[in-house]
Amino acid sequence: MAASKRVLLIISGGIAAYKCLELIRRLTDADIAVRCIMTKAAERFVTPLSVGALSRDTVYSDLFSLKDESEMGHIRLSREADLVVVAPATADIIAKMAAGLADDLATTTLVATDKPVLIAPAMNVAMWKHPATQRNIAQLREDGIALIGPETGELADGEYGTGRMSEPDAILQAIESRLGGPKVIGRDRFVGPGTALKGRRAIVTAGPTHEAIDPVRFIANRSSGKQGYAIAAALALAGAETILVTGPTDLAAPDGVTVVPVESARDMLAASTDSLPADIAICVAAVADWRVENETGAKLKKGATPPELKLIPNPDILAILAASRTRPALVIGFAAETERVVENAAEKRVRKGCDWMVANDVSPGTGTFGGDRNQVHLITADGAESWPSMSKTEVAEWLVARIVRTLGRKEDSTPGHGPTQIAGS
Ligand code: CTP
Repeated sequence: MAASKRVLLIISGGIAAYKCLELIRRLTDADIAVRCIMTKAAERFVTPLSVGALSRDTVYSDLFSLKDESEMGHIRLSREADLVVVAPATADIIAKMAAGLADDLATTTLVATDKPVLIAPAMNVAMWKHPATQRNIAQLREDGIALIGPETGELADGEYGTGRMSEPDAILQAIESRLGGPKVIGRDRFVGPGTALKGRRAIVTAGPTHEAIDPVRFIANRSSGKQGYAIAAALALAGAETILVTGPTDLAAPDGVTVVPVESARDMLAASTDSLPADIAICVAAVADWRVENETGAKLKKGATPPELKLIPNPDILAILAASRTRPALVIGFAAETERVVENAAEKRVRKGCDWMVANDVSPGTGTFGGDRNQVHLITADGAESWPSMSKTEVAEWLVARIVRTLGRKEDSTPGHGPTQIAGS
């Protein structure tokens, strides 16, 4: 059967080029046709022979080759795909793209294309941080080019930092989401109600909490609950028995989810621990860190002097679930940060004892709180990975896809593996 979607993969010359072989395999497995262009430098890292064998197509590289150009001119190459992907995208090709240079087949095709372009940057940390690269990236974003990664972690050259190319799975997910095709869970299609998580039980906390001052007043926050509800819906769609412990929101109960409405952090904790044992716990709620110690049973009267509220700490639901005797195999937190997003969230992951932390920037202007889109970083024991900006529903689908793959792998692995040993990506 002919593949329904086509990707033009441009491989530029970086050490991460070897990961493209796996990416090509994943794409063809997912029934996406791949045609490849390699730069001259890329050919020093992987051979056109391997790329051609895996993509089952001619590999193009030379703008001035009579053979390449007569077989498939660069204009046709650029037009006969649904999406153009540059992976790895080195600092060099990024600079050329930002400047609109067209000095070889890869860059000429990129200037000629009328199709959406996705790039997966890969380079040394200093090159990534260089003002010229950051300027070029800003330019590419402005030109409507989508990015996946780069990730933070150990780089090929032994240094630690941001610059590692995203893993083939993550790039595949980004490609599929841009092609608008079926979602992928591991190698299985996720085409609607599924069974990938059948037999698994999941607890999700969502929304704000309300901490009472008196019977009519409370302290709350701006969480809408949208991300947590989307995750509960995606878990249920994948077949998990899903319990959504939610603070007050305006949202409708997702299909197939058991909703447990609560008000305060203490109610949320009780409802969550009552729902144990579970295989998966995802704490998305914006739990109030403090509650009012001197909550009154009667409405406070407006006296001559305003009342003084003494705040005391609330229990940390995520940390308690992660430390519980019946700890779920996968405990996931969400970190709302306004600065040093990845670093703070990575530190929080360790402090709260969870397996993964999904970090997002909730600074004013990002529109995350209450909005429909989210740009998150998935932090695991292996490092951090940045996901493209997408809808909260897509974030939920990506997360559930990753959960399915991880729990599947855990089952395949040797018995006795503790939850903290779950490989993150
Ligand atoms: N969380 C929780 N119970 C709390 C506080 C937070 O379960 N009492 C969970 C949230 O649901 C989220 C994660 O912990 O999954 C991180 O929440 P966040 O507000 O970012 O962290 P805090 O611990 O409140 O840290 P800080 O406000 O200092 O950034």
